[in-house]
Amino acid sequence: MSARPWWQSAALYQIYPWSFQDSDGDGIGDLRGIENRLDYLVELGVDAIWLSPIFPSPMADFGYDVADYCGIDPRFGTLADFDSLLASAHSRGLKLLLDFVPNHSSDQHPWFVESRASRDNPKRDWYIWQDAAPDGGPPNNWISDFGGSAWTWDATTGQYYYHAFLKEQPDLNWRNPAVRAAMLDVLRFWFARGVDGFRIDVLWHIVKHAGFPDNPPNPDWDPATGEMNRVFQLHSTDQPEVHDIAADMRAIADAFGREGDDRVLIGEIYLPVERLMRYYGLAGEGVHLPFNFQLIDAPWNARGLARMIADYEAALPPGGWPNWVLGNHDRPRSATKRGRAQARVAAMLLLTLRGTPTLYYGDELGMENGHIPPERVRDPRELREPGLGLGRDPVRTPMPWDDSAQGGFTTGEPWLPLGGDWPRRNVAAELEDPASMLALHHALLRLRRMTPALARGSIRLIEADGDVLAYEREQDGERLVVALNLGSAPAPVTLPPGVALLSTLPGPPSDADPTLLRPDEGLILKVDTDA
Ligand code: NOJ
Repeated sequence: MSARPWWQSAALYQIYPWSFQDSDGDGIGDLRGIENRLDYLVELGVDAIWLSPIFPSPMADFGYDVADYCGIDPRFGTLADFDSLLASAHSRGLKLLLDFVPNHSSDQHPWFVESRASRDNPKRDWYIWQDAAPDGGPPNNWISDFGGSAWTWDATTGQYYYHAFLKEQPDLNWRNPAVRAAMLDVLRFWFARGVDGFRIDVLWHIVKHAGFPDNPPNPDWDPATGEMNRVFQLHSTDQPEVHDIAADMRAIADAFGREGDDRVLIGEIYLPVERLMRYYGLAGEGVHLPFNFQLIDAPWNARGLARMIADYEAALPPGGWPNWVLGNHDRPRSATKRGRAQARVAAMLLLTLRGTPTLYYGDELGMENGHIPPERVRDPRELREPGLGLGRDPVRTPMPWDDSAQGGFTTGEPWLPLGGDWPRRNVAAELEDPASMLALHHALLRLRRMTPALARGSIRLIEADGDVLAYEREQDGERLVVALNLGSAPAPVTLPPGVALLSTLPGPPSDADPTLLRPDEGLILKVDTDA
């Protein structure tokens, strides 16, 4: 037996609590709802769940505006419900990760209420306050990720405060040791309660340049990408001091971990690969997994993907464990981006690459972006910069469990409408259909779990042409080849002699042609050991 930490061979599953399962008819998912659905996740074959924020919040940004880091929002339940969920998850062998939101709190957090009360309040320096520019305008040109200046004027105390997101999400001042201590205590609080790790929100944002210089303008800015891209976030993000903080967080996670019960930290970081790698820490003292989001936006092109995989693997620091993500609560659904057939190929890619995969709830059903009528838009991103297609409601629609009213998600009125094709594409229907996306996920996750070469083996890209992306996974002499046809025409390929284990196309893979992949086909082959 190896002493590898559990999360290296685990498949993670992100739950957006608003939308997974409602248990009390208020149209909003909750912790009891999640607990009631744990068996579905066990059956699916994932190893850990990550919950987007469940803490008390005014919900200006749907929980990413935390008003109490150590509580549970009543919409989702109580601390007792949380303990019950955690115990139920653990009793089923599932790990549970929370979402830590260290960059900013809610403006309703008692710390900010104090901070804004007066300039000499002891908590003043817990947030980022600056005088106006000489013309009375904001201190610099930093832009909120949701558009508009990142500075809001506070008339009572005559200064601006900084918020990388909404004005209701003031940024905490991590240069203040008291903030640091208080926030690290939050990690201890939840670790002591038994959580297995955290996904850390916008980790690369949490320290800003101490002198607040202007960010350089982006000469190629395309307004269709949102106002945030008008400048490069050179001075407002990814400052060297962030790595000490990540190391502090890591030390806490390590101190709580025991063999077989390691705690894991996953950093949300949108940066180019070279800079992303720094978040592993120079000597592995950073977060365990800096999220690798490259697949989400990657052009669906076999040669480009092969290069991306090779470059990412080559950039990993010694001991750095890879990870891959296809979708999350901020980005378009995989099935919408690539179409249904290629979404199956993408799922095979996600679950056969080397490294820890994170699945986004509903992607295992092939959920697509939902249609949100204008009067039902909830996401502040859409409300602030409407019509650019940046809104995230479409990827947060309720999980469809069956074809009963509201898909079995709620007995009430769901907070967002269910996605369009839910009466046919839901858990119950897909469980009955061996050709469904859900069945494919079951098979992929089962194979991954049973096959060390897939769960933790090495990876070697295989030379291929045209639309074919192929690689080999190997562990202790066991070799698997994954060959993916990213196109909709038959694709020539040369497969080594072996047994086809799984195809993305319905039907038995045993008739796999060793010289041709069918349109939209992904294939996993166990290579004959003497080949
Ligand atoms: C990243 C989260 O994923 C996103 O949903 C949120 O709006 C921002 N951080 C602000 O917390």
